[in-house]
Amino acid sequence: MKCAVYPGSFDPVTFGHLDIIERAAALFDKVVVCVMVNYKKKYIFSEEERAALLKESVAHLPNVTIECFSGLLIDYMQKNNYRVLIKGLRNSQDFEFELSMERVNRHLCPEVETMFLMADNTHSYLSASVVRELMAFGGEVSDFVPPQVAEALRIKYGKDRAK
Ligand code: PNS
Repeated sequence: MKCAVYPGSFDPVTFGHLDIIERAAALFDKVVVCVMVNYKKKYIFSEEERAALLKESVAHLPNVTIECFSGLLIDYMQKNNYRVLIKGLRNSQDFEFELSMERVNRHLCPEVETMFLMADNTHSYLSASVVRELMAFGGEVSDFVPPQVAEALRIKYGKDRAK
């Protein structure tokens, strides 16, 4: 069985993440989306909340599962005997950063292969931080995240429900 792991913060999951998940799910027998800790980030949603929103958002994809792990990605891969990592790239900045991550991870465990999927053009400017900022200042996020995520954001930021 060909299995791939798509790790990330998902704070919250966006249509950009979902596009990568759907495309990976079409390429692999099984895709594990792993909610992890990026030690540079402060999260607005807890690990459980991020995983729950992901679970709802991928309910239409039978070969996708959601897991959580707070440790080194390579430890998670080795512990579960996973061999393929998926990363999404939007631009050359993402590429530079993910290249260094790939090199560290390859150094730690050469058996794990990182594969990159380019973001669809329609999502190339989209990020979870843009979504959070829009929501914090009362902007509309329904073009960028699934309805249940938009609702969770409204609750988190104490905004009125959608009319
Ligand atoms: O969505 P993000 O925040 O860009 O995802 C980054 C993430 C969580 C995949 C990355 O920070 C990560 O792999 N965290 C786990 C710790 C680790 O293994 N870091 C890489 C080696 S230093």
